[in-house]
Amino acid sequence: MKILLLGYMGSGKSVVAKQLSKALQYSFVDLDTAISKDQNLTIAQLFETKGEIYFRSKERLVLNSLLEGSDNSVIALGGGTVCYGDLMQHLKQNQGVITLYLDATIDTLSERLISQVHTRPLISHITDKKVLTDFIRKPLFERNFYYHQAQHKISVDQKPVQQIVREIVALLF
Ligand code: S3P
Repeated sequence: MKILLLGYMGSGKSVVAKQLSKALQYSFVDLDTAISKDQNLTIAQLFETKGEIYFRSKERLVLNSLLEGSDNSVIALGGGTVCYGDLMQHLKQNQGVITLYLDATIDTLSERLISQVHTRPLISHITDKKVLTDFIRKPLFERNFYYHQAQHKISVDQKPVQQIVREIVALLF
């Protein structure tokens, strides 16, 4: 079984996936980290040197190869992974995959992201929280179309990671 966590940047996919994998004794994979290893470049370097389209094609290839593995794993996707091409359709048809959306309000996201802009290529040019909030409003609205096709949704605002993990375990098992 592969449990895929999706949601916007800053929704907590990686940290929740890591703790969830421990709780379930599944392996943990962060898709961005797997792409970085595959390409021998950081995500920022990949965007800078090869561009976003190249990144998106590698993102899909690396995810496909992870999904081919037979182990139980929790995979933290990137914020845009399910929003390109027909990936969400494929995931929904894959019996071995559970998709779970970590739903955070725009205030929660901008609060968390303002201190992390330098590590995130899509928002690295922003320094002001109000500008950041306005900047993510449109992509979040557009991506919600894909995020809301996940099989499960969990609201993550103001919840500690362990509570989110407990809620996911109760929801899935
Ligand atoms: C992206 C989110 C990032 C990373 C890349 C693109 C996006 O992942 O994949 O910078 O399009 O939202 P995180 O959501 O893990 O930060």
